[in-house]
Amino acid sequence: MKVGQVRLRRFANTVANGYFCSVIKFNNSPIMRKKIVAGNWKMNTTVPEGKELAEAIVAKLSTVPSDVQLIIAPPFTHLCCAGKAIKGTSIALSAQNCADQPKGAFTGEVSAAMLKSIDCTYVILGHSERRQYYGETSATLVAKIGLALENGLKPIYCIGEKLEEREAGHHFDVVKAQIEEVLYTLTPEQMSQIVVAYEPVWAIGTGKTATSEQAQEIHAFVRKTIAAKFGQQIADDCSILYGGSCKPSNAKELFAQKDIDGGLIGGASLKADDFVAIAQSY
Ligand code: PGA
Repeated sequence: MKVGQVRLRRFANTVANGYFCSVIKFNNSPIMRKKIVAGNWKMNTTVPEGKELAEAIVAKLSTVPSDVQLIIAPPFTHLCCAGKAIKGTSIALSAQNCADQPKGAFTGEVSAAMLKSIDCTYVILGHSERRQYYGETSATLVAKIGLALENGLKPIYCIGEKLEEREAGHHFDVVKAQIEEVLYTLTPEQMSQIVVAYEPVWAIGTGKTATSEQAQEIHAFVRKTIAAKFGQQIADDCSILYGGSCKPSNAKELFAQKDIDGGLIGGASLKADDFVAIAQSY
């Protein structure tokens, strides 16, 4: 980002004094996209441990810049309890998944309506672990995103290529297909509710992070692909998060990139200090 833009961004943030990342473009309407740091707890912590973690994050919330939206995504069993711990704060609650059916005889599933009824705001959908271990296809994800949106949840839609796909130079094609097959089925109004998380599969839980240049390159491509279908304004307003071994030591450089609007954090979100330090990297 150029110096002038940085100054304008800071000024706009001061004026807004809210949770939106407001970048005033020189020749166009303002860009309103959130800076987001979301913690994906995956299948970790017991309920009491999760409660403690949520409370520890709340205790440090005042050290996080007010324009950064924190989100926690605990397991289903923890949602009510974690929701109580963050109640009255600016931290938002997310689930890690929802069913591809609205309700009925689907043993073990949790519907979007159930999540909404306990004050979830977001739901992570299409995480590579769900695609890989639970066979989630684009068709499943179209159904899940549709139900999430119908129930007033904001999907955090995950995309990203595997190592062999990157090594073969196919990463742009993979990400483009993941966007086209799922997000291109949405209306512009629906698309404006979506957060995208780019997570190269080879960087998830491996300690290997995409370089900030690699991440910026693909984030810009993701935004361009969204703009091609929905127009520049919707693309500019869409928060695109980076995920994959994001930690306090690399967050600053990643978040400084023009098209990186925050992070989806796995391992490092399980320690309140690290999670908050990542959010402080802005
Ligand atoms: P990681 O996971 O930060 O542990 O790599 C990120 C994710 O899978 O969302």
